[in-house]
Amino acid sequence: MTQTIAPHGGVLVNRLVEGEQREQLLKAAETLYQIKINNWTISDLDLIGVGAFSPLTGFLEEADYLSVVENIRLADGTVWSIPVTLAVEEEIANALSLGQQVALVGEEDQVVYGIIDVRSVYKVDQQKEAVNVFKTDDSEHPGVQKLFSRPSTYIGGPIQLLNRPQPKKFEEYYFTPAETRQIFSDKGWKSVVGFQTRNPVHRAHEYIQKCAMEIVDALFLNPLVGETKSDDISADVRMKSYLVLLDNYYPKDRVFLGVFPAAMRYAGPREAIFHAMVRKNYGCTHFIVGRDHAGVGDYYGTYEAQEIFKNFTKEELGITPLFFEHSFFCTKCGNMASTKTCPHDKSAHLHLSGTKVRALLRDGQCPPPEFSRPEVAQVLIEGMSEQLQPSNP
Ligand code: ADX
Repeated sequence: MTQTIAPHGGVLVNRLVEGEQREQLLKAAETLYQIKINNWTISDLDLIGVGAFSPLTGFLEEADYLSVVENIRLADGTVWSIPVTLAVEEEIANALSLGQQVALVGEEDQVVYGIIDVRSVYKVDQQKEAVNVFKTDDSEHPGVQKLFSRPSTYIGGPIQLLNRPQPKKFEEYYFTPAETRQIFSDKGWKSVVGFQTRNPVHRAHEYIQKCAMEIVDALFLNPLVGETKSDDISADVRMKSYLVLLDNYYPKDRVFLGVFPAAMRYAGPREAIFHAMVRKNYGCTHFIVGRDHAGVGDYYGTYEAQEIFKNFTKEELGITPLFFEHSFFCTKCGNMASTKTCPHDKSAHLHLSGTKVRALLRDGQCPPPEFSRPEVAQVLIEGMSEQLQPSNP
């Protein structure tokens, strides 16, 4: 068996309860105080439970929360950049006492997803959280907007996961970190580069992935499929586009596709660190950070998500970040390049904004093949026209 990289914090967390114990806890949950949780929180709970967010064993307690917001570390010093928290209305918080077990129930389906052992109930300064985590308190920022829409009282404590959210489609691409670690090991891969994306894979993405693949054993294409902002392309359409791309342009024995069922925070630099730590938990040894990773609008500098890594030692991070400059097709070079490798000026570079590409696709037109593989563009055009059908809003 190939030795895989250690999980963040050293131990792969597993809070998934199964068998008889699960039956007992589900029975006990019937008489517990219940808190309703939305899909975002269900996905956080699930990712904590299966160890993707190792070393977290639950929603952040106050000391860890404050430390993450202020120092990008848990209270014990472990690097952690995104507060993973459970927000509740103040009246609910007032009804709870420390040490109490509370059932976490899906607000739409009434499924008992887990139990939290309430160790901490605290009021937070969301303004400060926004400024520290998102570098802005502008409520136009989708992450800030989400944050401000939640109550400002949080509860923290270890969780037990009793039911996992069931994917509606593409179930075969959902893996726990324990499973991906096993798979990478079985394949004999000693080095695996993780790739985060919330978009279809265009030529620039393909270029940086393949540059990385030249120096590692394999690529883990790990698209985020949790909640994203409404104008991002839906996960279902993207999944179809990844499959057609891999089929046509990637070596089957050196690529593994599995989804990351987390919500997108749009926290730029801080989210890049978070994404890297999580991919380490899935068994990646390397992680790609390109231009404006996890950014939105103009909130972050082009390379800020790379620069933040300088604040941490190699040992603290564990996973090796691979940084890529802005990549594009250069008409003079006749190939994909970046500012690092291309001597020509901007007029030779093919640049298409996301808005422009979406407009082309909506009109049923393929962007140039130097921007997007035609097979990918075709899937996106079909996906968009389906989404525009009145029966399928
Ligand atoms: S993200 O929000 O998930 O980061 P996206 O799916 O666009 O957005 O990016 C996936 C990864 O590719 C990120 O690491 C990002 O920095 C990188 N990336 C996207 N476009 C480019 C590009 N043109 N040049 C270099 N890196 C890029």
